[in-house]
Amino acid sequence: MSEAPTPENAFYVLVTGANSGLGLGIGARLIDEFLQTRPQDESLVLIITTRDQRKGDAAIAALQEQLRKVCRKAEKKLPGVSQLLQRRVFLRQERLDLLSLVSVQKLSKKLRDTVPKLDVVICNAGIGGWTGINWPRAFKTILTSWKTSTTWPTFKLSAVGWTAKPQLPPAAGGSKREEPLLGEVFCANFFGHYLLGHYLARLLAKRSQRETPGRLIWTSSLEAYEHTFNMQDIQCIMQTEAYESSKRLTDLMAITSRLPSTETHVNKYLAYEQPSEKTAKPRIYLSHPGITHTPIMPLFFVLDYAWRLVCYISRWLGSHWHVVTVDKGAVAAVWLALAKQSILDTMEQREGVGKWGSAIDVWGNERVERTEIEGWGWGGELNETPRKFGRSPYAKALTRQSKEKFVREGEQCWAELERMRVDWERRLDEAGVGVCMD
Ligand SMILES: NC(=O)c1ccc[n+]([C@@H]2O[C@H](COP(=O)([O-])OP(=O)(O)OC[C@H]3O[C@@H](n4cnc5c(N)ncnc54)[C@H](OP(=O)(O)O)[C@@H]3O)[C@@H](O)[C@H]2O)c1
Repeated sequence: MSEAPTPENAFYVLVTGANSGLGLGIGARLIDEFLQTRPQDESLVLIITTRDQRKGDAAIAALQEQLRKVCRKAEKKLPGVSQLLQRRVFLRQERLDLLSLVSVQKLSKKLRDTVPKLDVVICNAGIGGWTGINWPRAFKTILTSWKTSTTWPTFKLSAVGWTAKPQLPPAAGGSKREEPLLGEVFCANFFGHYLLGHYLARLLAKRSQRETPGRLIWTSSLEAYEHTFNMQDIQCIMQTEAYESSKRLTDLMAITSRLPSTETHVNKYLAYEQPSEKTAKPRIYLSHPGITHTPIMPLFFVLDYAWRLVCYISRWLGSHWHVVTVDKGAVAAVWLALAKQSILDTMEQREGVGKWGSAIDVWGNERVERTEIEGWGWGGELNETPRKFGRSPYAKALTRQSKEKFVREGEQCWAELERMRVDWERRLDEAGVGVCMD
């Protein structure tokens, strides 16, 4: 058993939902890239979350196997190196159910008590909230516009009105407590992570001198359509396309988190007051994994294989977003986690704050690409030249009005989400189930 690393030479990463799909791909890729790119005296502490122990054990076993694979490969080039590499990776598992706000608080408290700092939190877990597929429409659109319909599908059937289980226990005497509804997809994809980010901001802010600001990476999608998001139904309980709406909310809030107009809310959210020698304000980054074949859309196994083949065909037809495998889908999130701060800062200074997606060429070489956002373009510049790459056929040019609307909605979302956070914390405390986070 190797010695636990000290905070100075360890890089702490938390990945949510790491037992399947992209979460597992992110963990595996992170191990690989960290060992290849970071100095030999640096260690990786990878903390993964799953909903139960069985899934956690299986994920740890898969990541250990990945570590052994990386070591075997390195050993062939440099005999003896594998022992050194093995000692640089520490794996730990934790429980998290994003549909339970108390579970979010419990994990945050545990991490605050047991981890010296966090460098990166990758908010990956999520659900689709779809109930099935409109098959006639799927066949028609795939056969008539293969690439477009498999990248921006219009054939998924989404549930309406799904809500998370009650968060508060019955009051004394057994009567039900009044509590606001929490949209299930909204809570799993956004609100649970939003609270987690708030509670862990203190760990993300802790810095030793040579280090960079902690990063909170939010996961979006190519399907974060403007039309699915309604300020009057921010949780998308009353309408269809709750998944797409939750991803639009993610885009709106991540991008506008850097604007001066949201600073008061963001500072409150990140519990950040003053820069000091030992702290730096964490940054929120936005990523998406392109189109990856994962269990997020449950399909009967024959159809699942067929969908994988459809995805490969899309790539061979020239789709840059069909990364297909989880290892390649993880490229954007892992790049955002490991990139030098100076590189990220230079790119943002040159081209504005953006959304970073996993992309691929026809030969299967993956890379990270900026992705267009409705109302923000690629970097929020009104005069930016539209890029042809990976553009939705429904995309509209960025105008002053569309950008103003985007920014206004982002500001409103920050105000509303902060209100909801404080309200829920109060309710949990009053019901006696809230975890003290001071
Ligand atoms: N696949 C794609 O093409 C694609 C495209 C764009 C964006 N994304 C995003 O990528 C992320 C990962 O998706 P995926 O495709 O890898 O899906 P996936 O294979 O279904 O993985 C989702 C993960 O989230 C976990 N999760 C679900 N509900 C949770 C909850 N209430 N609390 C805690 N964990 C929960 C799942 O755990 P359980 O196993 O316990 O359910 C699983 O580990 C999602 O945010 C998704 O929106 C995916």
